[in-house]
Parts: sequence; C-alpha cells; structure tokens
Amino acid sequence: MREHVSPIFQITMPRFRPAVFVGPDANRQVLVTQRDLLSWRNASDPVVKLLRHGVLVVNGEEHDRYRRIMDVPYQRRNVLPSIPAFWRYTDDVTATWADGETQDMLVEMRKLALIILMGASFHVDVAPHLPRLWQPILHLIEYISPGLWILWAGAPVKASQRQAIETLDAYLYDIIRTRRAELATREAEPDPTDLLAALIVAPDMTDDLIRDQLLTMLIAGHDTSTALLAWVLYLLGAHPATLAELQAEVDSVLGAQDEPPTADQLNALTLLDQVIKGNAAPLPTHSHRQPPRHGGHDRSGLPRARGHA
Ligand code: HEM
Repeated sequence: MREHVSPIFQITMPRFRPAVFVGPDANRQVLVTQRDLLSWRNASDPVVKLLRHGVLVVNGEEHDRYRRIMDVPYQRRNVLPSIPAFWRYTDDVTATWADGETQDMLVEMRKLALIILMGASFHVDVAPHLPRLWQPILHLIEYISPGLWILWAGAPVKASQRQAIETLDAYLYDIIRTRRAELATREAEPDPTDLLAALIVAPDMTDDLIRDQLLTMLIAGHDTSTALLAWVLYLLGAHPATLAELQAEVDSVLGAQDEPPTADQLNALTLLDQVIKGNAAPLPTHSHRQPPRHGGHDRSGLPRARGHA
C-alpha cells in the first residue's frame, strides 16, 4: 500500500477506518506538526468504551494534561531505580519453571509483563491476584481486538466481557482507594517512580479518571511487551546460532554475577538491544487513531479534516 498509494493511507471499511503512517516524516506529521487534524477518539470503538478517558483515546489539552502527569514516572531517572525489581520479578517467574517441563512462553511472558508493569508503575504486587484476574484480562483483550464491532456497531457485549470489566474495575478502584488512604497519612512527597501516587496527588483527578489511566497502562503496557517477548523467544528458538551469540554476550557482560545489572551493563548488551528492536519493528500493532469523518486527503497525504470526528 505504501508503494502504491503514499506513506499515509487509510483502510476504509464500513465502520472501522484505520489510518497507517509509515516512516519518520509521516509520524512527525501525525504526532507533532499536524496532530490536531486527527481524532484519537472513535466513540463506537470498544477501546474508547473500555478506556473511557484514558490518555490513549483523548485529544488535545485533555490528552496533554494526563501525559504531563504520567510522563514523570517514565523518565529515565525514575525508571533506572526499578532495575533490581525487574530482576527480582523475573527470578520469581522463572523459579516456577522446572527442568524438563514445557512452558508456554506467551503465558509466562504475560505473567512477567503484568507483574513488572504493575510493580514498577503502580507499586502494587499483582502476583497474588493473578489467578482471579487472568481470565478477565484475556477477555478484555478479546473485547478490544478487531471483531464483529468493525462491521456492526450494535454488536452486543458478551456477558464474559461485561463481567471482566467489572472484575478489573473492582480491583483498580480498590488499589486507588488504598493508595489514597496511605498517602493521606504520609507527610512526605510521593515517590516520583509511583505512577498511581502521581495520578492521585494531581489536581482534578477523580477516581474514575485515575481508573481510566491505570487500565490504559495495564492494557497498553503489558499486551505489547508480552507479544514482543514471546516473539523474541520463539525466534531465538528458531535461530540457535543467534541464541548462542546472545548467551555469550550476556555471559561476557554479566559473568556469574548474582545481582541486578547496572545501567552501564545493560547498555553494553548491544546484540540483545538489536534483537529486541529488530523484533519490535515488524510486530503488528494496530492504531486506534481515526481520521475524522470528513474524508479526502490534502496534498500532504494527511486525511483532510474540518474538525474532530
Ligand atoms: C513493545 C512494546 C510496545 C509497543 C510495540 C507499543 C506500541 C504503541 C503504539 C503503536 C502506540 C500508539 C497507539 C495509538 O496512538 O493508537 C502506543 C501508545 C501508547 N503506549 Fe505503547 N507500546 C509498547 C509498550 C508500552 C509500554 C511498556 C507502556 C507503558 C508502560 C505503553 C504505554 C502506551 C501509552 C500510554 C500510549 C498512549 C500514548 C499517548 O497517547 O500519549 N506502551 N504504544
């Protein structure tokens, strides 16, 4: 499509019209110079119904307000202190594997991604709750994945999906209330690495809005990383020479060290970086960004707009 049409094109199905932007120039246009020409919010999309006012599906000043709060815990200086926790969580998951057993890496990497995301970003230990949250999380992913809703806006929500939203909501509202109460008894400023605390202390953030950001991070942050890690492991299994090279690199940088890597050591794992990025690039991702209803393309190739859809 890119070769035959332009670096920016749209797939026009009756109710679902995803736009595709290929390459740095097209991405700069859509993310920076002409971002107001696109709406990130398509009301009939289940993603919007699920995430409500999550940062992924809101526009303009509302988007920027949430981003300003949420960017701080993800600044490099606030992520680096979590390296030991990443290490510990990974050990916890791999400690459940026994020699000679076959493990489904899609399942194991999802566990790991969820535990790391919620531990490092929300400062909560989700592991004990995973048995009851696991199926609901899978139902939510099914709910927002391409399905009947693409063709039929009135497609009913499955009972299992409605139930899944209720279960996740109950869990998230509970961790919000608990952290709010903890913060009220503390005099000190909240830990800058704690996203949940940052959302709670920000002005005008209601529990509903905080729930929307937490659920957005939970879905956007873990399902993507799960797919990335599972693909990396699958492809390394299919390319034993690369796997051996990678093991040699890790051995030479970390040796038999039984403590978390430093940031400098991680930076020295250049082949690992290439393997992760090489795998990340072609991964299928689907954008929820929708061109506005008023169709047509201007000469820049961007869908023309008179306002947000
Ligand atoms: C391999 C890993 C990842 C991939 C491939 C990926 C991919 C993407 C893509 C394509 C978008 C744009 C979606 C759109 O605008 O419709 C996006 C947005 C977003 N991602 Fe990721 N992501 C990854 C990891 C993460 C992680 C780990 C987090 C959280 C810790 C995260 C949080 C978000 C958020 C909050 C947005 C919305 C940003 C905004 O609208 O300002 N993602 N991601």
